[in-house]
Amino acid sequence: MLKNKKIILGITGSIAAYKAAYLIRALVKKGAEVQVVITPAGKEFITPLTLSTLSNKPVISEFFSNRDGAWNSHVDLGLWADAMLVAPATASTIAKMANGVADNMLITTYLSCKAPVFIAPAMDLDMFAHPATQQNLEKLRSFGNQIIEPAEGELASHLIGKGRMEEPDIIVQRLENFFASQTELQKKKILITAGPTYEKIDPVRFIGNYSSGKMGFALAEACAGKGAEVILIAGPVSLKTQHPNIRRINVESAEEMYQAAVREFAESDAAILCAAVADYRPETVSQDKIKRENKEEMTLHLVANKDIAASLGATKRSNQLLVGFALETSNELTHAADKLKRKNFDFIVLNSLRDPGAGFQVDTNKIVILDAKGDAISYLVKSKQEVALDIVNKLVTLLQ
Ligand code: CTP
Repeated sequence: MLKNKKIILGITGSIAAYKAAYLIRALVKKGAEVQVVITPAGKEFITPLTLSTLSNKPVISEFFSNRDGAWNSHVDLGLWADAMLVAPATASTIAKMANGVADNMLITTYLSCKAPVFIAPAMDLDMFAHPATQQNLEKLRSFGNQIIEPAEGELASHLIGKGRMEEPDIIVQRLENFFASQTELQKKKILITAGPTYEKIDPVRFIGNYSSGKMGFALAEACAGKGAEVILIAGPVSLKTQHPNIRRINVESAEEMYQAAVREFAESDAAILCAAVADYRPETVSQDKIKRENKEEMTLHLVANKDIAASLGATKRSNQLLVGFALETSNELTHAADKLKRKNFDFIVLNSLRDPGAGFQVDTNKIVILDAKGDAISYLVKSKQEVALDIVNKLVTLLQ
């Protein structure tokens, strides 16, 4: 899994920097190419000579060489990598990464890096537990970075607690698992609907909802990250996609979303219906802006939109999977179980607006996954990226 993988290893000023030597050895032994980027403080703990000898590459630390002015391009480096691993990551480096404080080569490389980033913190237990560090780690998680939690044990301060950098072989295993997961959905085509729909009233007004599209976009990135070809049918949202394997189809109304979904589902292995589709639309759309004309009341006559999920559920082949969402405010499990059956979903993702941290416009979500066999799994509040991974992992097990 690590053969020919290009890995940037960021090393910072922690006593655990000595473990970076073992890390490089293990990565190189498995066929990876390792480029070390070390902070000035890191060099106080381990010498560049040790690191360059083990990695067979000069160690990068400064923006340019004092000797001949040669420039180290963090942009080229960021684009070169298949993964970036910061191990050990100190509280200070974690804070700089979370806030974009680009005052050394490691942080500029991090900010330019398009590849997945893994962070293995190492620090004293109280520093690790401090809300400042925890909030910074949370922020990094929300960027999609993966935190390799430190282990418990005796620390450099001789105190015992959580803060020891995870052991090199476990870190290497995490990277191997990650690269293995990149092929889990290879050759699979996944359709995803996301965001709200807008139902036109007149040229300047519509009926819409608060859906931000964040959950659907996170699902699209998670599927693409596992090797799938993704078709993302997006309602009106201002979000951007990152992964090149995501083909985006922008739509506005439920009818447009329906047409695109039916067309694309025929060729798909699975569909995840995350969009908040309007159930009704105005029967007629006024060509001109509707004037108030001193009227005290106005009535809009609404007609039902097609149910995309139910239509796909009705035509689903035995080798296709259908995943739905249910956002509920009461009797959550009963409503979700009913939708699962009614729309012929293989599983449904339930979120309750009563749970803090779940629902529209927030960066986190709290879900329960209910499957057709009647199993229900409850998850903790997590970033939408992490929730997307939980959902996609469930899809992967069913597709296999
Ligand atoms: N859905 C859809 N097309 C619609 C309405 C809903 O594809 N016209 C999908 C949603 O994307 C979601 C699931 O169906 O995956 C459940 O959506 P929800 O709005 O909760 O379902 P409704 O059947 O409209 O139920 P409710 O009675 O709660 O309005």
